[in-house]
Amino acid sequence: MRFGCAWYPEHWPRQRWAEDLRLMRDCGMNTVRIGEFAWSRMEPVDGRFALDWLGEAIDLAASFGIDSVLCTPSATPPAWLTSAHPEVLAVRADGRPEVHGMRCHYRPGSPLYRWFCKRINSALAERFGQHPAVLGWQIDNEHWQRSHDPDTLARFAEWCRARYGSLDALNDAWSASYWSQEYSDWSQLHAPPGSPNPGLRLAWHRFSTALTAEFQAGQVQTLRERIAQRQWITHNFHPHDDLDRAGLVDGLDFASWDAYAVDGPSFDPAQLAVEVERIRSLTPSRKVWIMETQPGSVNWKGTSNPTMQPGELRAAAWHMAAHGAEAVLYWQWRSAPGGQEQYHGTVVAQDGHPRPHYTEIARIGEEFKRLTTLLDQSAPVHPVAVIDRWADRFAIKHQRHHHQFDPAAHVRSWYAAVQRQGLSADLVERLGDQRPWSVVIAPQVHLADQPTIDRLRAFVIGGGHLLIGPRSCFKDDENALLAQRQPGPLSDLAGAQADDFYALETPVPLGGELGEGTASIFAERIGQVEREVAVWARYGQGHGWLAGQPAIIHRPTGKGSLTWCACWPDQELQRRLIARISRLAGIESSLIPPDGVTIVHRRGESGSFRVFINHTAQPQQVELGAVATERLSGTTASNLVLAPWDVAVVG
Ligand code: GAL
Repeated sequence: MRFGCAWYPEHWPRQRWAEDLRLMRDCGMNTVRIGEFAWSRMEPVDGRFALDWLGEAIDLAASFGIDSVLCTPSATPPAWLTSAHPEVLAVRADGRPEVHGMRCHYRPGSPLYRWFCKRINSALAERFGQHPAVLGWQIDNEHWQRSHDPDTLARFAEWCRARYGSLDALNDAWSASYWSQEYSDWSQLHAPPGSPNPGLRLAWHRFSTALTAEFQAGQVQTLRERIAQRQWITHNFHPHDDLDRAGLVDGLDFASWDAYAVDGPSFDPAQLAVEVERIRSLTPSRKVWIMETQPGSVNWKGTSNPTMQPGELRAAAWHMAAHGAEAVLYWQWRSAPGGQEQYHGTVVAQDGHPRPHYTEIARIGEEFKRLTTLLDQSAPVHPVAVIDRWADRFAIKHQRHHHQFDPAAHVRSWYAAVQRQGLSADLVERLGDQRPWSVVIAPQVHLADQPTIDRLRAFVIGGGHLLIGPRSCFKDDENALLAQRQPGPLSDLAGAQADDFYALETPVPLGGELGEGTASIFAERIGQVEREVAVWARYGQGHGWLAGQPAIIHRPTGKGSLTWCACWPDQELQRRLIARISRLAGIESSLIPPDGVTIVHRRGESGSFRVFINHTAQPQQVELGAVATERLSGTTASNLVLAPWDVAVVG
């Protein structure tokens, strides 16, 4: 288990470094991430490298028992480069060129920029590629680069030519006869947001991902040719959905995540679990690092930037670790005196002394150290899988139909229901050949590509229990409507099709075998159902077109089944639905936790145990059903008492 922070030795005089490293060591840190924005210090003059300071920082850290993750600095090109070659900088969608001083503002497709990256990365890899205290490498920082310059647009046209083969095929895939959008020459193609064509938007999204992947692959190759085999390579993804992460992991040993509480003062336990599990599933290694997380507040929220309450950092760190994070690193150690992030949360204050939450961080460090073998030699085991694809999120996000239909929140709501049932789930892009789960939830497989449909069908026919949500299989893989109502190619397995769909201005009651509840935001009206279909819930009065119609239906198929929830139900109904399907699948929830408490089961050479986390400011009690040992405190009881934001490792 790795624990640490982002450290920027380039901001501080050398005399200060040892004191920072001592304080890090004293709060249990064993890892620093360095260098991701330090190009101007690594290569102060074109072609002249200055890496001694970095070597000294790495060596000094090692002398405190702290290893380093070294970054390629391509997110922030130095001024000598951007002024001599402004053509490496991106052009924004509105035509304005980027200027020096930003980050991630380059053109990922620029051969010249790639050449400069290769040169600095080669120098870094040659110098530190065998260094015993360098654990691995991070490529760039939080990819989101896109450029609307003419060369990139020409690459886009090339990419489209390769994908569609002909303009006729492209015009057809994008339904471009609509508004006379048809193209008669490849040079006429342009990028969104100019045209809101959904096919064009998705194609641009995919192209931007592919171009960034190519940019990253070049960097990976430069490093691989020079670094020791034991040094790994990763990239730190961030919470915005602008590129498809699943297309950005080729060549990486594992993917990393920058975990920030984007939607509120606190981490949402379902959101955090979804993020960590989603990133963990991206590479076959099934490893994930939390390369950044906030020590307290952030500084970039438009409204206010509240801090976390005492205990919340510990709950979050353990939640991430329980879900498989092999490292938790805070961003950042100390604020630079200048720069735009002066108000961001840090571990030590501007005077270099610990902030109040340092003691909590030290507690986490001590606990991770003490339970490191337990964590290192086990992994989360989840009985359920949730399918979550960025292409679906992207397509829905741009056509929500109801402003509250946030596709990420929709996935999260199903995950939260899984948690409330005392279960946990893997997050996957698609079902592979190995399908270790008997329950799969596909909340919004919106784009019905054939391989995905084939796998879902095989899962059900092979005896699996599949739950699909609203908007399922609405469109094809080009973001065009299918000539079939939802759930399109799954309709035969569902035993029904949608008659229509509606944005809901007010919640609509639901009732039936699953009990009472409500649907809000979006609902489909299920038409005629086949004979073997069971109606588990119907819409009540309130919406003229929905009243009395089926809302949740279930159709057994051999040993498996398909359940179609055609609306977005409230949390409690979602939970009851998952409970019902889990029971059919023979999954036992060991216990239903109180609201706000999550349970993750881990297993491995170090044994079988459960991590309980209280994500609330109230004390909670959990009846375990049998006497068990809590590993953090060493106490034994059958009734677990969790203080606010408390953690228990039981088993
Ligand atoms: C991340 C970024 C860090 C820092 C942080 C602040 O997205 O990688 O460099 O800016 O946000 O929250």
